[in-house]
Amino acid sequence: MEKTEVDDDINELFETLPQERNWDGRWLCQYKGFWCPVRCFRPIVSSERHFDARDTDILLASMPKSGTTWLKALVFSIINRNNYSIDQTPLLTSNPHALVPFLEFNVYWGNDNPDLDTIPNPRIFSTHMPYELLPNTILESKCRAVYICRNPLDQFISHRHFLIENKIEKDAEPLDIDEAFEMFCKGIHPFGPFWDHMMGYWHSSLNNSRKVLFLKYEDLKEDIVFSVKKIAEFIGFHLSEEEEKQGLIEQISRLCSFENLKNLEVNKLGKNRVIQNSSYFRKGEVGDWTNYLSPSMAERIEELMQMKLRGSGAISQANVILSTSHHLSWGD
Ligand code: A3P
Repeated sequence: MEKTEVDDDINELFETLPQERNWDGRWLCQYKGFWCPVRCFRPIVSSERHFDARDTDILLASMPKSGTTWLKALVFSIINRNNYSIDQTPLLTSNPHALVPFLEFNVYWGNDNPDLDTIPNPRIFSTHMPYELLPNTILESKCRAVYICRNPLDQFISHRHFLIENKIEKDAEPLDIDEAFEMFCKGIHPFGPFWDHMMGYWHSSLNNSRKVLFLKYEDLKEDIVFSVKKIAEFIGFHLSEEEEKQGLIEQISRLCSFENLKNLEVNKLGKNRVIQNSSYFRKGEVGDWTNYLSPSMAERIEELMQMKLRGSGAISQANVILSTSHHLSWGD
């Protein structure tokens, strides 16, 4: 069968899905339990069907606004450290998203079956897709995934600023923060529910620690040197003693730091389709939610997370997440 015949049923499948409007006016559709932006439904299904993973591929996965840009910069720098010196790296002139494409927003956007064969190893891709929607070849191959998670309250606030700043749905009037928060609590937000997204990768990291590395934004903030080493080790590009002595980890950390990337011209002035590069670099802080959300809203999310995770039969793992990261216990 021709590719187009195979893929024509994507529209039929789409028609069967529940749809809701996100608070910013964009349409979401519920696919296999997750609320996906309608515009990337086709790319998601196309990647499910056509992406042919290599054992050497590296996938960077996240909920939006969890530190994806940072992770892209770090992984790109670790992998390419012998190809570019720190003062000549493409990161100085390109936004990290231009160097590591999203499967659903770039690679399969407008092309159901792009030719990815010519990309040299190791290929780095990123995605906001939940684990449950990843193409089978990713799950079956030996390729590795690095997932970055963030306190949901900070993720919610960061996403709110990002969508308001970029106003992707030009004619829509965004709902106020209380209504948006209500939707978040119902799990209706891009790639939500948050807890299901997080738990998919959390479980897989427990079941196969060689397949998925589960990182927390807050841990990177706390100790970036340790995190860089851990990431490098996991993706099979560990830093030698010699490199450590030369201070390479510190150099990569500085290069990819919020302050450094934010102040580069490309990230101040550049634009990627409808997104301003500057909007990927707002505050870069832990706990900014306290400036926007009340303690009772935070309590509500904490209770909801506990309940959802208990309901999934994953309470012991949930407790590990909640207790090992004080930043994911939302209070302090
Ligand atoms: P805030 O909006 O809270 O500032 P993503 O990259 O997944 O879109 O996430 C964006 C969030 O990560 C934003 O959070 C942004 O400021 C922060 N961020 C971007 N680059 C960063 C970096 N190098 N270090 C720390 N935080 C960074």
